[in-house]
Amino acid sequence: MEKNFTGEAENQFYYIDKCAKIVAEKAEKLGRKLTYHIATFGCQMNFKDSEKLAGVLEQIGFEEAETESADFILYNTCTVRENANSRVYGRLGYVGKLKSKNPDMIIALCGCMMQEPDEVEHIRKSYRFVDMIFGTHNIFKLAELLSEYFDTNDHDSSEVIKGKKRKHNMVVDIWKDTDKIVEELPSKLKASFKAGINIMFGCNNFCSYCIVPYVRGRERSRKPEDIINEIKKFVKEGVIEVMLLGQNVNSYGKNLENPISFTQLLKQVDEIEGLKRVRFMTSHPKDLSDELIDFLKDAKKVCHHIHLPVQSGSSRLLKLMNRKYTKEDYLTLIDKLKKAVPDIAITTDIIVGFPGETEEDFEETLDVCRKVGYSSAFTFIYSKRTGTPAAKFEDQIDEETVKNRFDRLLAVVNESSGKYAKSIEGITLPVLVEERDRENSDGKNYLTGRLDNNLLVHFEGCDELIGQIVNVKLSECKGFYFMGEIEA
Ligand code: 5AD
Ligand code: SF4
Repeated sequence: MEKNFTGEAENQFYYIDKCAKIVAEKAEKLGRKLTYHIATFGCQMNFKDSEKLAGVLEQIGFEEAETESADFILYNTCTVRENANSRVYGRLGYVGKLKSKNPDMIIALCGCMMQEPDEVEHIRKSYRFVDMIFGTHNIFKLAELLSEYFDTNDHDSSEVIKGKKRKHNMVVDIWKDTDKIVEELPSKLKASFKAGINIMFGCNNFCSYCIVPYVRGRERSRKPEDIINEIKKFVKEGVIEVMLLGQNVNSYGKNLENPISFTQLLKQVDEIEGLKRVRFMTSHPKDLSDELIDFLKDAKKVCHHIHLPVQSGSSRLLKLMNRKYTKEDYLTLIDKLKKAVPDIAITTDIIVGFPGETEEDFEETLDVCRKVGYSSAFTFIYSKRTGTPAAKFEDQIDEETVKNRFDRLLAVVNESSGKYAKSIEGITLPVLVEERDRENSDGKNYLTGRLDNNLLVHFEGCDELIGQIVNVKLSECKGFYFMGEIEA
């Protein structure tokens, strides 16, 4: 384990300055700014990490580019399911061709997939054009690694002597685990009015199918004062909505020197002046406390939405998944939530085709979906992850059965999300306007925004409203989203 030490941010600013000088010289030679492009795969955690990486790159002097024909390409990878890995290899094939035309281009890989030694070995051997690889624990070291890259590579074609072999050294830095949390590095928000806030990193739950604890390490919480200060800073800059992020937010604060509960933190966030909406994810059903449910009733800014992954409705499978709750426990929790906050929207994650899943087990999952009435659900086909206990389980389910169950689950989920949306059709609710709608084929300017319950609404309006909360009548339910009209 790496040890915590103060001054790490200062150390990184030294490398930011060092890289900035090199990048400025290059820009002068080229007569244009150097560009970067980050492609992010996976979950909210990765998107948050990408904002931090973008912050450092902009501080160095890079400018964001929409496409992969940039000077610095960074893939922030995911490995939670096999298809996430395949997508990265697909992108690497494409970007390798771009690099053969522009050898000064820098290609970097980071994130969860890079925490897997076999994948890194494969990339080293078969994708030798990659320039930098780092993991999930040391993303704060981007400038230091880039500086090492500049020091150990021929990175400027105009300076490479004709006929001489270009020096290429792949910079690889992966840490197994760390307790280090580096504060105060720059970050660049994707949208100026909302921010994801890491409250903790890692996961201790070891659900038997999941690779996250192996690639993101053990649970560690940020200090409450650091979280509150970061949110206040964002609010000063115009942020009105925050999403508190952690793999299991309900176990926040347990490992702090002065332990505090997630609800106590949430209460402090709820008091921040100028902030309008607070969201949080993900909640593990085994840790969702009565204290939190009680607070949700009275909270001023906490949205009436909870993401509560069930994974399966079968108590037998839940045990094999190491989830530490039964179907009955889960449904009791849902009852408590609905009693405390009657208009709460509940979303979930569900896995189909876990090893040994019988038709009866699957029916239990459908039963939970019907009973809960999810406003939306992420449904996944089980993916075998080497190194997890479930990868060794017998009775892996055949593809055809899984596909059939997946389609049936989707039908039930769609029916329940449709029913939920229909129940609020016609009423007027506050919407945070997020962006201009891309599908405005009728010549009118359409905007997209989110309700407190996280559902999407499309409506006509001008771009100046982006980042504001406006009242919108939910005129027409279109399944799991609405067409609406702004009300004065
Ligand atoms: N296969 C399929 N889905 C998985 N998830 C995690 N691991 C796997 C896996 N091996 C899903 C879980 C989790 C979500 C983020 O991804 O449903 O809640
Ligand atoms: Fe994976 Fe379970 Fe941790 Fe979620 S709680 S990240 S599913 S191990």
